[in-house]
Amino acid sequence: MLTPTTDVSAAADAIRAGGLVAMPTETVYGLAADATNPEAIARIFDIKGRPVDHPLIVHLAGADRLDRWAASVDDTVALLASTAWPGPLTMIVRRSAAVLDSITGGRDTVGLRVPAHAMAHELLTEVGVGLAAPSANRFGAVSPTSAQHVLDDLGDRLDPARDVVLDGGRCPVGVESTILDTTTDPPQVLRAGAITAEQLTTLLGAMPDRARGRSRASGMLDSHYAPACEVRLVDTADDALALRAGTVGAEVLDFGDEIDRFARDLYSSMRDADRRGVGTLIVVLPPAAGLGHAVRDRLFKAAAPRRLG
Ligand code: TXA
Ligand code: MG
Repeated sequence: MLTPTTDVSAAADAIRAGGLVAMPTETVYGLAADATNPEAIARIFDIKGRPVDHPLIVHLAGADRLDRWAASVDDTVALLASTAWPGPLTMIVRRSAAVLDSITGGRDTVGLRVPAHAMAHELLTEVGVGLAAPSANRFGAVSPTSAQHVLDDLGDRLDPARDVVLDGGRCPVGVESTILDTTTDPPQVLRAGAITAEQLTTLLGAMPDRARGRSRASGMLDSHYAPACEVRLVDTADDALALRAGTVGAEVLDFGDEIDRFARDLYSSMRDADRRGVGTLIVVLPPAAGLGHAVRDRLFKAAAPRRLG
């Protein structure tokens, strides 16, 4: 079993040798590999149990080498790169010819993000390449927000001789990045996150679209981000108490109006409920505003009928 470390140089060595690094970001932990190494990328899919047509986000130290990954950098991308990065925003752009097919799942686009986490930034700077990284959980499970969560999910699948788990403490945001498809006009939000639609509207001077059509990001599948326990959603604390009274083995999760704490603690609360064998988690929904959209999105998915097993 791997022991988490804070040694970024050891992690950089692992990346250079073709290994994987579980890396903290401000949103969730990612399972990172050199984005130019096809064998390392293949291991990510294998270890996560992730279908190969689900594309990976490429993480960068900064926006200065965008042209290495993007076919072109239009005004929207340039504006958001300079105002929202580093930060919890992934931009979908047309890919450059240099991007590996295994990263994009064969699409002509690639997701790019500059994370705002000191340890991730240090690692990205030290390796000097883009790092392809999905969330460091098994496919379909909730994302890890601590090094311990990574070990709980993937500890027996990572190779102590090649891979490293970096411990950067708990992720301060707690839900995955906002995904904005910049290849459509107007741009479309494919996944809600901590960069809110309201903020994007302010930054862009125009409102982004909601995603339409077939699920365009795997996080858009109905059942995703699901814990083992049953999740039931209610609108008020009173509804939660009434439901709990009639449900054996149920617990209530209610963050009131503390939306930042809700996002930060959401996944660890679900994992904790599973660890304690809670049968039903009754969650009081936050209001549909700001970061509340992202939390509601993950909750609806956690409560959706299970199809992923
Ligand atoms: O906050 C985050 O975004 C975290 C941290 C580690 O950066 N990463 C993350 O990665 O959540 P992942 O792979 O678990 O989710 C990325 C989502 C997937 O639903 C994937 O389908 C979508 O982004 N995606 C990636 N590239 C895409 C593309 N070119 N077009 C459409 N969707 C894409
Ligand atoms: Mg994920």
